[in-house]
Amino acid sequence: MKAKKQKNILKVHCAQRIETELTVPGDKSISHRAVLLSAISNGPCVITNFLEGEDCRSTAKAMGQMGVSIEHPEPGTVIVHGVRGAFLKPDGDIDCGNSGTTMRLMAGLLAPQNFQCRMVGDPSLSKRPMKRVIDPLREMGARLHAEGEKSCPPLVVEGGPLKAITYRLPMASAQVKSAILLAGLFAEGRTTVIESERTRDHTERMFDFYQIKYDREEIWENPHSIANRRLKEIRISLEGGQIPESRDFRVPGDISSAAFWMVAAAAQPDSRLLVKGVGMNPTRTGIIDVLIRMGARIREVVETDMHGEPRGTIDIKGGPLRATTIEGAEIPNVIDEIPILAIAAALAEGRTLIRGASELRVKETDRIAAVAANLRAMGAEVEEFPDGMAITGGKPLTGAKLPSFGDHRIAMAFAIAGLFASGETVIEDTACVQTSYPEFADILQKIQKGPAITRPTPVISNLVPRQRRKAPAKPVAKSATKP
Ligand code: S3P
Repeated sequence: MKAKKQKNILKVHCAQRIETELTVPGDKSISHRAVLLSAISNGPCVITNFLEGEDCRSTAKAMGQMGVSIEHPEPGTVIVHGVRGAFLKPDGDIDCGNSGTTMRLMAGLLAPQNFQCRMVGDPSLSKRPMKRVIDPLREMGARLHAEGEKSCPPLVVEGGPLKAITYRLPMASAQVKSAILLAGLFAEGRTTVIESERTRDHTERMFDFYQIKYDREEIWENPHSIANRRLKEIRISLEGGQIPESRDFRVPGDISSAAFWMVAAAAQPDSRLLVKGVGMNPTRTGIIDVLIRMGARIREVVETDMHGEPRGTIDIKGGPLRATTIEGAEIPNVIDEIPILAIAAALAEGRTLIRGASELRVKETDRIAAVAANLRAMGAEVEEFPDGMAITGGKPLTGAKLPSFGDHRIAMAFAIAGLFASGETVIEDTACVQTSYPEFADILQKIQKGPAITRPTPVISNLVPRQRRKAPAKPVAKSATKP
């Protein structure tokens, strides 16, 4: 049971139970936003626990190219000197690397500038759709076009004055919502974004913290019936002409990175894992709900709401998992966790159904096709749909040589699958892991050394069992939530 680190590949063998506590690196979505909002603020902002992954570095580097001074006094700390929204024309193209968040959010910030610039990406980003940001920004009066086929990058933005719009998102996308809201800060009038499904709300929370004023309204169908009320839409509106106040910000740990270890612990009987300092924003904690429905015993406590983002500890005890259904409004909340939840499904008894997740087809790779291909190579039964998949779990997994498809979350999800497979699993082309989790291979190695390395701290005795979410579907599962 060891994971060997070699250049660009990960070798994994079957592991025993996990008993450890860990912290995870800074949240990727929040690190991007912290740099961007600091850059357009009115002064210096110290960002700590900043994710030193390649995606967030792309955002910081882009800001540097546009005249924002960024100091890097130590790993995980950046000091961004805000330029009040007035960037300088960059020399040459802006390279967004693998990062869709960089390109889409920056499109919103570049649209109101008084220069033209071109954003390029790596081969994966060059295949990702940009029409979703081009359309609303054009409605605001921006002049921008994609040079690639089917509105794919490079993306050329010729800045100019913007006018406010009201825009209903055609798909659940926090990136598109954020691009429009960021552009709205520079537009004349009141910009409104309407979303019919709740997506991650880090931009809005950070607006609060950086003292940007906005209104947010939730509209419900059957608002007075607990059983039948359903979210119809969320409207977020802001006036143009606002500059963020410079503030210092601490980024919480990334629950999307914690997800790999959460599944590794949840699926292994007698495992015990404590993840500390992790972001627990309710638009991101869907993985906890799903794992509880699958039979994992999980407690969580929000310890602080520092800087507007809830953060705390998650405690997981492993045991046999059972199948579940993931669909509808839950999908945006777990969108980045579906590859690792697919591994949980392959280890669970029964048929797990994932539907309404066609967005997975346009992530860093087509994640439905990638998960299906790799799971099948390990001996699992997978049925693929245009918008999801069905995975029949419970059959033993066998080690295999698997491509990462250049996608960090596919590489890490299948490294975790390797912990449960017979023989050796080799993940190829794992440089992509640097995108979001540079320490992943080290933790994988430590975790496999077995339960002796760390003992969970006694703080766990203070944890309050979760109560606020829906009870799991089957009555037997209820007691399973109480460790
Ligand atoms: C992100 C939003 C999600 C997510 C991505 C990061 C963000 O994408 O999948 O990894 O930081 O806003 P979409 O907004 O396209 O769904």
